[in-house]
Amino acid sequence: MIQKYIFGSPFPTDAVTAQVPQVPGVPPYGTFSLSGGFRFTYTMGADDIVYGLGAANRGINKRGYRYVNSCTDDTMHSEAIQSMYAAHNFIIVSGRETFGLFFDYPSSITFDIGYTRMDTLTVFCPRCDLALYLVEGDSPYDIVRQFRRAIGRSYIPPKFAFGFGQSRWGYKTQAEFRTVVERYRALHIPLDMLYLDIDYMDHYKDFTVNPEEFPDFPGFVSDMADQGVHLVPIIDAGVKVEEGYDVYDEGVEKGYFCKRADGSEFLAAVWPGYTHFPDVLDPEARAWFGEKYRRLIDAGVDGFWNDMNEPSIFYTPEYAEQFRAKLEAALKTVPFNPNAVGAKPKPEARGEYELFYHHVDGRQVRHDLVHNLYGYNMTRAAGEALERIAPDKRMLLFSRSSYIGMHRYGGIWTGDNRSWWSHILLNLKMMASLNMCGFLYAGADLGGFGDNTTRDLLLRWLALGVFTPLMRDHTALGTREQECYQFEDPEDFRHVIGVRYRLVPYLYSEYMKAALNDDMYFKPLAFVYPEDPMAPQVEDQLMLGDQCMIAPVYVQNARGRYVYLPEEMLFVKFLADGTLSQEVLAPGHHYVEVALNEVPLFIRRGRCIPLAEAAETVAALDTAHLTLLGWDGASYELYEDDGVSRSYDDPANYRTLTK
Ligand code: NOJ
Repeated sequence: MIQKYIFGSPFPTDAVTAQVPQVPGVPPYGTFSLSGGFRFTYTMGADDIVYGLGAANRGINKRGYRYVNSCTDDTMHSEAIQSMYAAHNFIIVSGRETFGLFFDYPSSITFDIGYTRMDTLTVFCPRCDLALYLVEGDSPYDIVRQFRRAIGRSYIPPKFAFGFGQSRWGYKTQAEFRTVVERYRALHIPLDMLYLDIDYMDHYKDFTVNPEEFPDFPGFVSDMADQGVHLVPIIDAGVKVEEGYDVYDEGVEKGYFCKRADGSEFLAAVWPGYTHFPDVLDPEARAWFGEKYRRLIDAGVDGFWNDMNEPSIFYTPEYAEQFRAKLEAALKTVPFNPNAVGAKPKPEARGEYELFYHHVDGRQVRHDLVHNLYGYNMTRAAGEALERIAPDKRMLLFSRSSYIGMHRYGGIWTGDNRSWWSHILLNLKMMASLNMCGFLYAGADLGGFGDNTTRDLLLRWLALGVFTPLMRDHTALGTREQECYQFEDPEDFRHVIGVRYRLVPYLYSEYMKAALNDDMYFKPLAFVYPEDPMAPQVEDQLMLGDQCMIAPVYVQNARGRYVYLPEEMLFVKFLADGTLSQEVLAPGHHYVEVALNEVPLFIRRGRCIPLAEAAETVAALDTAHLTLLGWDGASYELYEDDGVSRSYDDPANYRTLTK
């Protein structure tokens, strides 16, 4: 059962699409205070678990830290950070009492989950204007399913998006892009997508391509397509300020950019230098910005990634002024105290989100009050436009920043992680929480974005990425080259990525069933084994679909790992020589050996999954001849469609396979 409680005048976020009955008063859990801001306080039982928060830091069980949901571009994903790129304000308390709460509040909101006091959950935000949704159900899983129904169907990508993609910030020339594809193809390492980071553009101008490098861009796109590769360009939030650049000129003329209080266009320096932010909260401006994607679609592009849409701001003239004034004041005292200058690294701390406005329903809304909706609405701009432009064709689309609601328009990647072993685990933990909030198409930068990767880190991370819907190797400018072919014995990479392709019929089928039924693709173990007292303790394994459990190795130099089985399972290893090892393991704890070039998978008792022969692209997979892996006598309901059109609900898309 879902009910809505309204406090003050909430800003309409469109996060929830279902008609939810509104009830007076406050939910019957915890206490509420509305003086000096909104505050919900709840005393947790010693064994209560708190799930949720989507793309947040730390564990599947969020207890023991403070999370400030304010979309932030922070590249240091250490244990300490409280804000990441997204604001997914949905939590589930599971224990003595079990209930879910969605705080539909578009600005900074803090979840203190046993940080100030270990037994106390407090959620607070400075203004008392929000819609609060209470979800009650039989279990956390039931609550998630009800919530997911209320927020609408998750984004469905084209099937090719389940292939492997290569990316790097720094590829500039056509020759560089072509080399990547040539080298993958020469080594027969599967590849479906090649990502274009900002350097493909003409001076970092959205919806342009560098004319010197790409004199015939459609020709280049189609050449790549002939090799089975989809090009996926990046689009940034900021539009370069440059007279004569039509997107800029039009946006200014029509008043579609965010403005300062005095009505002038707000200036933010990002990659292109000064930019303006399209006012994607205004439906008219949103439609206008979305329409610009058509240019690249007309050139043959069928996928995009939206970046810098927190929105990230490196610098504003206002802050420079302030900084100068402080510097001059500080210079009047000796010894000079650099701390007095107070250089702040983040736009929120610098007050820059208070400097510009959105035009919504005839009124001006200051950005900081709706900050967490920006990335959502940029991606909504694209998603709505893509549906208009190509109603019969699915496009790949994912974003860095997001809010619940955006899950209907695109997926996400988890942003600038690092080549750290701990980030394999962070990647795993986030996946289940993201699914709770509707984000099914998700993945991390495999191998790590910042810092230098190593061969073993990349291999182990890929062995997790085999199972994440978005499987992409991406890294930052200036880091060690990270394409699979840069390392010795590339056949190991061919094998691990090949396992992904063997599993695509299964992974796609489970993804589609999850999306079509508002269900989860990844679940914490406790969702599937609610009676098992050990299951909630497991933070480094996940259930995948209805058949499998995954348990990747995430420790350097480890030759295997401990794993917990809540029931009897078939332990399968995809061995480097292309064969499989299979062993039935009893419920309980086991140490399993997994070599660097192997992919481990656990199949639940009495289940089976389909397996294809590996291919170099998703399109080349032979799904007419699938074998079944798992327990004898088991059957599997396979979902398969053309992977492109939007006719998902056709019953002919299902067939039952029996082993
Ligand atoms: C930040 C993004 O998170 C990263 O993936 C990208 O490579 C850089 N921007 C450059 O566009």
